[in-house]
Amino acid sequence: AIEMDKLKERILQEGVIVSDQVLNLDGLLNHQVDPQLTMEMGKEFASRFAEAGVTRVVTVESSGIAVAFATAYELGVPLVFARRKKTLLADPDALCERVPSFTKGIVTDIMLSRHYISEQDKVLFIDDIIANGDAARGLIKIIERSGAELVGLGVVIEKCFQAGARTIREQGISIEPLVRIQSLEGGVITFAD
Ligand code: G4P
Ligand code: NA
Ligand code: NA
Repeated sequence: AIEMDKLKERILQEGVIVSDQVLNLDGLLNHQVDPQLTMEMGKEFASRFAEAGVTRVVTVESSGIAVAFATAYELGVPLVFARRKKTLLADPDALCERVPSFTKGIVTDIMLSRHYISEQDKVLFIDDIIANGDAARGLIKIIERSGAELVGLGVVIEKCFQAGARTIREQGISIEPLVRIQSLEGGVITFAD
């Protein structure tokens, strides 16, 4: 679609290659967002999962929230974002998973209250970037433990040269990326397909 060509264009404009592994996208996803383009991403995810009977969109704070909001708005369902736990005062019944963070080099705990997810839910997980998939696998475990049905995972960018998306697909979960990046080698962003 034309909108997805626009997204690729913006990735080329805003992306700053940090290494062969890491693309800084502060100008598009991690520090600044373009509301109009983000709403178009939400429309695209909503249309890809239109038949799935989604009752809730979930993501992990913070960078997934904007595009997850856009998707939830289009689907007319609530957005729930898992929190990164910073306190021991959290709800003792909350669902928690410990995940290593690729970019930050630390371990964090993510948490989702059972108030906002249940076995009646059909959940669409939306995220900004999938790399190694550690954060994604943590939230997938939480969704499984809640008893909700995971209908799929929509990601703005799949980094094909890291194993996250592949290993999650191997679990039988459907992943819909808007853009797939094949490589960052030679200081060049190369898209797949
Ligand atoms: P993930 O694939 O499930 O996201 O987990 P992974 O452990 O691979 O990545 C951890 C974090 O690093 C994620 O953000 C992910 O979006 C981010 N990340 C991985 N590769 C890149 C990259 O090339 N560029 C950018 N900009 N981010 C990358 P997070 O921990 O969920 O943090 P936040 O962005 O929500 O604060
Ligand atoms: Na991120
Ligand atoms: Na994220």
